[in-house]
Amino acid sequence: MNWERFSCSVPGKWVLAGEHAVLRGASAVALPHPELGLKLRFEPDRSRSGLRIDSAGDSAAVRELIESVRESWGEEQGRSFEMPSGTLTIQSTIPIGAGLGSSAALCVAMTRWFAEPLRLLDAREQGEFATRLEHRFHGRSSGMDIAVISAGEPISFGMTLGPKSLGVRRLPRFTFHDTGLRARTSECVYRVEKFREEEPTAAMRIDEAMAEASRLAMEGLIAYDRGDRGQGVEKLVRSMNQAQECFYSWRLVPGDAQRLEYELRKRGALACKITGAGGGGMLVALWKHGNSDS
Ligand code: PMV
Repeated sequence: MNWERFSCSVPGKWVLAGEHAVLRGASAVALPHPELGLKLRFEPDRSRSGLRIDSAGDSAAVRELIESVRESWGEEQGRSFEMPSGTLTIQSTIPIGAGLGSSAALCVAMTRWFAEPLRLLDAREQGEFATRLEHRFHGRSSGMDIAVISAGEPISFGMTLGPKSLGVRRLPRFTFHDTGLRARTSECVYRVEKFREEEPTAAMRIDEAMAEASRLAMEGLIAYDRGDRGQGVEKLVRSMNQAQECFYSWRLVPGDAQRLEYELRKRGALACKITGAGGGGMLVALWKHGNSDS
């Protein structure tokens, strides 16, 4: 196993539409975060044994992740895993637990680092490996975070269809706003499950509404990118409003997030929604003027 000098950068992610419903077969629309990201660097040092982890985040979690790979590599593949010797530096600007893909970014970066020594040959193998790593953080997930961070571009994502590039480069102006509240994804998924048990018919309608919001989001992004800005923005507004209504129906918009949404709309945001699992985290707002390249 050959651990060479290595470095890579990966973006954070955000979700425009399709959260939760994606777990039951709907498509979602996810984008790389335009500013936040994670850098991983490995500097080998064969003169000393052992790995030094230099990370402002949770070094213990990184070490555990590497240990778990070592163990499963031995068990599943029956091959020995030689621990790297040197310094691993991880720098991330992605806030933890805010639904912006902090753990998925770490897993994708680690997978890229492991790809050469572990001979993870193609994108599919690397995607599966990164998804298995991420399960250690979150339990079951749709795999959307790993898919969009790996792709590094706007995608539609379905659990059976997988990721599909939307082929868009120009985006309208979206901004991100922290509610200051944190909720675990698993807790939010559990709350939606509970709601589905209590009100199955309403829950089915909400899933359909979220799937429709995803379709509108795709059409809106594509229209905007090909220069039809009016129609693009109009569809995105409808999509985001509809998606946000779903979060309200699931009771995943706490009071502080509602107040922030009200503020943003008062300041002129055309639409505003929770991005990610809900229960707090981040709001994304869409504005009339200006565009940004993805
Ligand atoms: O953004 P996250 O990773 O907190 O979760 C949002 C997406 C969910 O549909 C709620 C979960 C998933 O795995 O897709």
